Amino acid sequence: MSAILPPQERVWWKQPLDRVELIWIVVALIWCLIMFFMMPYWHIYGQQNLSNEAYRSKPEDFVRKTEAMIAQYKVREDGGDLKVPVVRPPAGSDVYMVAQLWRWYPILELEAGKSYRIHLMSLDWLHGFSLQPENINIQVHPGYEHVLTVTPTNPGTYSIICNEYCGINHHTMVSRLYVVK
Ligand code: CUA
Repeated sequence: MSAILPPQERVWWKQPLDRVELIWIVVALIWCLIMFFMMPYWHIYGQQNLSNEAYRSKPEDFVRKTEAMIAQYKVREDGGDLKVPVVRPPAGSDVYMVAQLWRWYPILELEAGKSYRIHLMSLDWLHGFSLQPENINIQVHPGYEHVLTVTPTNPGTYSIICNEYCGINHHTMVSRLYVVK
């Protein structure tokens, strides 16, 4: 097929298909299907993707649960003048973190090798929970409770950054997560 055919012959689906073209279409289709089925496969066997859930929830309820957890399990304060509570909840429990213009609240201290259900909710805007240097990155929407089931394996101090643009102080919306032995 040539680009300089007269108009009536330019209807592309009426043109004969070249053998090489057909081969490439089939190759591309097969590759698409392989990539598509790799997604569920990799989720189950590759352990690369998070197991997460999200459901609608009221901000007031979420704040109440967060405050209750802080009141019960606060161990110290951190963040200099900001005085952000550091909470060490029992292993295996549900833990809560609020995303809000422009902070993450509170700071969690988790035990290595133990599983936790981390609940996240935004009280105002769309924020992004990005845990560095791990490959954990999820959007945090207002009105939804996002639950990540995680088992931290390496002790250390991890950084949390917001990676959805949320206004003038977006770049200051940072925090930490401690993993201890
Ligand atoms: Cu929160 Cu950007």
